[in-house]
Amino acid sequence: MPDAKTPGSKKLYVRTYGCQMNVYDSERMSELLGAAGYEATPSPDEADMILLNTCHIREKAAEKVYSELGRFKDLKAQRPGLRIAVAGCVAQAEGEEIVRRQPLVDLVVGPQSYHRLAEMAARAGNGTRALDTDFPEEDKFAALGRRSPAPRAPAAFLTVQEGCDKFCSFCVVPYTRGAEVSRPAQAILDEARDLVARGVREITLLGQNVNAYRCTRGDRPLTLAALIRRLAEIDGLERIRYTTSHPNDMGDDLIAAHGECDKLMPYLHLPVQSGSDRILKAMNRKHTAQSYLRLVERIRAARPDLLLSGDFIVGFPGESEADFEATMALVREVGYGQAYSFKYSPRPGTPAAERTPVDEETMSERLARLQALLRQQQQAAQERMLGRTVDVLFERAGRMPGQLVGKSGHLQAVHVDGADARIGDIRRVEITASAPNSLAGRIVAA
Ligand code: SAH
Ligand code: SF4
Ligand code: F3S
Repeated sequence: MPDAKTPGSKKLYVRTYGCQMNVYDSERMSELLGAAGYEATPSPDEADMILLNTCHIREKAAEKVYSELGRFKDLKAQRPGLRIAVAGCVAQAEGEEIVRRQPLVDLVVGPQSYHRLAEMAARAGNGTRALDTDFPEEDKFAALGRRSPAPRAPAAFLTVQEGCDKFCSFCVVPYTRGAEVSRPAQAILDEARDLVARGVREITLLGQNVNAYRCTRGDRPLTLAALIRRLAEIDGLERIRYTTSHPNDMGDDLIAAHGECDKLMPYLHLPVQSGSDRILKAMNRKHTAQSYLRLVERIRAARPDLLLSGDFIVGFPGESEADFEATMALVREVGYGQAYSFKYSPRPGTPAAERTPVDEETMSERLARLQALLRQQQQAAQERMLGRTVDVLFERAGRMPGQLVGKSGHLQAVHVDGADARIGDIRRVEITASAPNSLAGRIVAA
């Protein structure tokens, strides 16, 4: 009989919802459970543990978790030893309520305490439950230790900052992820070197407010811009990105880095949420449409070919037709290369949830208009790439035989057929076609 610590003696199925930070956390949890004998499986049917890493940002995201859990009922009846774990922001927000609503669940662990997961897994099961939604004093990342030595895909996420102190009136993140905390720069540099040693060539620095990053160890506080410059010195690390940024934390040094640091990619996700100052105020965003537009101008002055991405909420309580038109006007003025837009979803415990909502029909109609405009802009941005030659980092095989898929510096997906290249290569590619969500091209000599 293999014991619990033999690698691969048990199977782990992980499903991840929500933002990139959850993707990073799922990787870390898989590595942690890997050291405790769990090997990843793509199928829940053969799993000894099912781990759902959840998102609470909109109602639909949270409800999806419960309906997914319900589907494991038969599986659990067939395999009594199966452990079902809920991690992430729903775990944090709902805690014990999850077990009340879905008694199949053995284990509930919040985003700040998942370094205790292996120990919890050993404790839970056969009717015993383990629940941990603390915001512990100890440094989770220090407790997690070094990254797994397994070779890796060429692009990786690296969390540098967690939590949020901004309290936008619609948002659960400050409650589920807690207060803003930055990791020490040295730990980040070590982790980045480990990733590069395992084949990583592109790192995306993550944080709910990543540009608020501030390492306070050492004589002078280190900003995100300074951290990026330090990371850029790592040989073999070719590309650096960061997400998500708040407009109010876009410091002068970070804007300057976009013009000066070659490894920093010309792409920026800078959510504005609305183009109406009245709504922005009600959202507690602490910026105006004008201040956002001025900021975009300054960033583009530093890096003219920057591709801008954003997030929008339509139908925030009190949003009038004129407020919505102000959002449309802002979008026309900025010109986004890519964007996410959502209907407002009231979240329990947030101030905006107390206000009278905009009716569903109006919300749907506005969302459709906004998305049509954003789609048009995305298409235009892609068509501007036709005939241009760009660097592409190849990340995976495509669906067609011989096809490789990679990303341009602008984070656009690029397909190349019959490519004489390998995953992990960065090659010059001439763009020859544009589809709705991707580009196609051919490799040209360097
Ligand atoms: N920290 C990031 C956003 C994290 S949440 C920022 O400030 O930009 C990701 C996006 O989800 C937000 O930008 C917002 O557009 C959307 N979102 C958050 N709460 C929402 C809610 N209650 N309803 C609809 N969309 C929401
Ligand atoms: Fe949420 Fe606002 Fe914080 Fe972004 S800045 S995570 S939207 S509270
Ligand atoms: Fe969702 Fe939590 Fe990320 S609520 S968006 S998984 S921080």
